[in-house]
Amino acid sequence: MNGVTSPPRVALIGANGHGRSHRRVIAPLHAAGRLRLVALVDVRPVEDDPVAPVPPGVGVFTDHRAMLAATRPEVVVICTPPHTHLTIARDALATGADLLLEKPPVLSLAEHEELTWALAAAGRVAQVGFQSLGSAALTALTDALAAGRLGTVTGISTVAAWQRPDDYYARSPWAGRRSLNGQPVLDGALVNPLAHAVMQCLAIAEALGGATPRPVTIEVERYRVRPIEVEDTAVLRVLFRAGPPVLVAVTLAAEEFVAGEVVVAGTAGQAVLEYPTDQLRLPGDVVTRRVPGRQGLLENLLAHRVDPSRVPLIAPLARTAPFTTLLDALRAAPEPRLLDGDLVTTVGDGGQRIRHLRGVVDVLRRAAERGALPSELAVPWAAASYRAELAG
Ligand SMILES: NC(=O)c1ccc[n+]([C@@H]2O[C@H](COP(=O)([O-])OP(=O)(O)OC[C@H]3O[C@@H](n4cnc5c(N)ncnc54)[C@H](O)[C@@H]3O)[C@@H](O)[C@H]2O)c1
Repeated sequence: MNGVTSPPRVALIGANGHGRSHRRVIAPLHAAGRLRLVALVDVRPVEDDPVAPVPPGVGVFTDHRAMLAATRPEVVVICTPPHTHLTIARDALATGADLLLEKPPVLSLAEHEELTWALAAAGRVAQVGFQSLGSAALTALTDALAAGRLGTVTGISTVAAWQRPDDYYARSPWAGRRSLNGQPVLDGALVNPLAHAVMQCLAIAEALGGATPRPVTIEVERYRVRPIEVEDTAVLRVLFRAGPPVLVAVTLAAEEFVAGEVVVAGTAGQAVLEYPTDQLRLPGDVVTRRVPGRQGLLENLLAHRVDPSRVPLIAPLARTAPFTTLLDALRAAPEPRLLDGDLVTTVGDGGQRIRHLRGVVDVLRRAAERGALPSELAVPWAAASYRAELAG
């Protein structure tokens, strides 16, 4: 024994798409000797990434089971489509690996439970890809809440307004689908691209209550401006067993870009967190300031493996249970209302073509400010809301 431990062996499953972001996180850690990338897996040819070239000696596989057997990684990053997560996670756990599992981690509460059991049986952990939870700006906000700077919190809301072109929906068979080959996929704005907006609100609810928040009711209106099976625009209101309501107002069909603002309203003022950029404004602040410092999910997982008692995981599977509760409840919601005609403007050509829902940002902002659904704001294109009572 020379006292030197070798860096953990890491593999990435799902190496293209968002997997390239993981390759860019892994590359400097590999170069610095903090981990050893042993394998990339993708069912499609692995695309070159000039920022993160595949290091010499790294195995490239098309089958994750063959990779697990051949390279025995200690940490597996899973960045495949959501409906493949559970199977791949179970296989990786069976070979003794810890996981960094992309969001949404699973697609139902039953799958959440199954994965919880599989983790316990294997004695391993899963960090879920909600990277905004590692934000120092979020911690600054929750510290301000704990210090009473907002008084009593009366509501948490978020507005995010993005654009997604035709290419986005054409890139993969699961994109924009509710199910694929009979398997749930649920690739809606709430569950996938804007899931971080939902999760940040849940994290704030968690900080306020001091425990995992328990959603008891959802009310949701879902819309689409394309022939997809899920929402590109939605307003979701969540009521909890205790604590203030959450209102999520999001679109992928925006005329103007709103990165993602989370507003916490209290009796003594309000706070605004732009979660993708870590910009924060607290009551009394004259200007919005950037709060630097994000803990990376992979680095946190590596540190946790070395010293679990001193380094808690940022996004353990258990912390995502309320998110999956909401996702699970959305499975039964009716098909989103298709909006077309004069309500929608088309801009651009080919794969870059974008569809805008006219005035959507104004509707989403009003919804967030009032804690209301579009149908309650007398928006002409509003559909009847869907309400579900949850076990809580
Ligand atoms: N954390 C984030 O901000 C963030 C951002 C984007 C995507 N995601 C998540 O990352 C995951 C992947 O999303 P994406 O947009 O990159 O999807 P994608 O379909 O664009 O890419 C997925 C990749 O996985 C590969 N793949 C599919 N099945 C596979 C299998 N069984 N084994 C190995 N490779 C397989 C595909 O060939 C493709 O290259 C999803 O869970 C998504 O929600 C997270």
